[in-house]
Amino acid sequence: MALIGTIPRRSVNLPSGSLWALISSTLGGSLIEGPAVDAFYRKFERYLGTPHVIGAETGRSAFELALASLDLPQGCEIIFPVFTFPVMPMVAKLMGFKPVFCDVDPATFNSGPAQIEPLLNERTGVILATHLFGRPCPIREIAELAESRGIKLVEDCAHALGVRVGGQSVGTFGDIGMFSFAEGKNMPCMGGGALAIKSDEDYARAEELIAKAPAPESSKMRSLGQSVWIHWLVTRPLIFGLTAYQILRLKQRKGENLMDSAVGNALLAKYEKSDPKIRRFANLQGRIGLKQLDRIDAFNAGAKRNAEILTQAMGEVPGVQAPPMDGEHIYVYYPLRVDPDKRDDLRHYLLREGVDTKTTDMSACSVLEPFREGDEVAGQTTESHILEICVYPVLSARQMRRVGKAIRKWALQQGTPTGIGRGSIDPQAEVQVTTTSTPPPVSERRQGA
Ligand SMILES: Cc1ncc(COP(=O)(O)O)c(C=O)c1O
Repeated sequence: MALIGTIPRRSVNLPSGSLWALISSTLGGSLIEGPAVDAFYRKFERYLGTPHVIGAETGRSAFELALASLDLPQGCEIIFPVFTFPVMPMVAKLMGFKPVFCDVDPATFNSGPAQIEPLLNERTGVILATHLFGRPCPIREIAELAESRGIKLVEDCAHALGVRVGGQSVGTFGDIGMFSFAEGKNMPCMGGGALAIKSDEDYARAEELIAKAPAPESSKMRSLGQSVWIHWLVTRPLIFGLTAYQILRLKQRKGENLMDSAVGNALLAKYEKSDPKIRRFANLQGRIGLKQLDRIDAFNAGAKRNAEILTQAMGEVPGVQAPPMDGEHIYVYYPLRVDPDKRDDLRHYLLREGVDTKTTDMSACSVLEPFREGDEVAGQTTESHILEICVYPVLSARQMRRVGKAIRKWALQQGTPTGIGRGSIDPQAEVQVTTTSTPPPVSERRQGA
């Protein structure tokens, strides 16, 4: 059984000194309150080139803060890409807004004006532009569209921290940019999230809301910090080979679930039960974030390089498609597109070869229970096509080539080509999940900030 050279599905990217930050903040009683919060905000403002940064307990909590700060008409429509992290539209729905889903481009998993514009109307309050998997969406064009129609623009940069488009950081094109520092992202800070805010008025409202928001509980912060650090340890490739990989192989032999987390409806039910609300960013998260900002660009460059090496080593094979490699990207999750009937076979094959992979947490949202409407078209969902592969620079170029060659070998062993080769995707066949129903008009009353 492989011990050396195994590759985890995700590698937690913590800076050195994180364990000490956790221990000293715990002993010194500064897990929650302390000077690192503001110091991090100022440094992140300079990094992004934005006038204002404000934090929250998680990315989803930051998104709730964003919507509450924008002074939106009550019940207005918010446009989301149909294929996204489903907690985001759920946040909007629980706040009384109406999520409306636009199609995504099947090659990039992102939406642009072509998909967004047909859904705009007098009820549209916000466009949420999402840079899924770390590839930027056509944000300049979306920003022009939003401005020309007088619609607020929020960017979901949970996967794209540090990506620049024409030299400008994502998260600074619209009214508000949202970031996540959760464990699986490229810049984890033992949890946390933040907003980049353009206008002084929106920032003043966000400050007022956050001042009234509860702080995270100290005990919860401590156990989250411990858990993230343990996951960092277990996802060092050598330690992974000795521990989690052995468990995964055992589960594979027994035909059990490969430690996959809740997704889709189950994830949304879990989120609803979690008492979601806006909570504050913690001092420990600021301490880690200050260190992370010094190294994030080098980290992203390493991940970009690894994605390119993997793509090149895999080459063009039938039934498997690499994500596009052109332009700026940081594939926080490298989304390999595979024939859905064979995806799990590839996953099992790779695990036997020492390469753990992940099914995606993203969902085709319009077919999930909370968002489903009577007359919508629910075609083939996209999540079943995706296998996420770790390309973080904790892995060497050699390891990336090994993964690429293993995928290539598997694909060439398969029978008839399935048509998911490079450049052969039929957009209609792949993503047909747009809501077609027209909801009733909403009241024009303003929501109190
Ligand atoms: C695209 C996207 N947006 C937002 C979030 C929410 O971030 P957080 O987990 O910090 O709440 C996630 C989390 O995975 C995500 O994948």
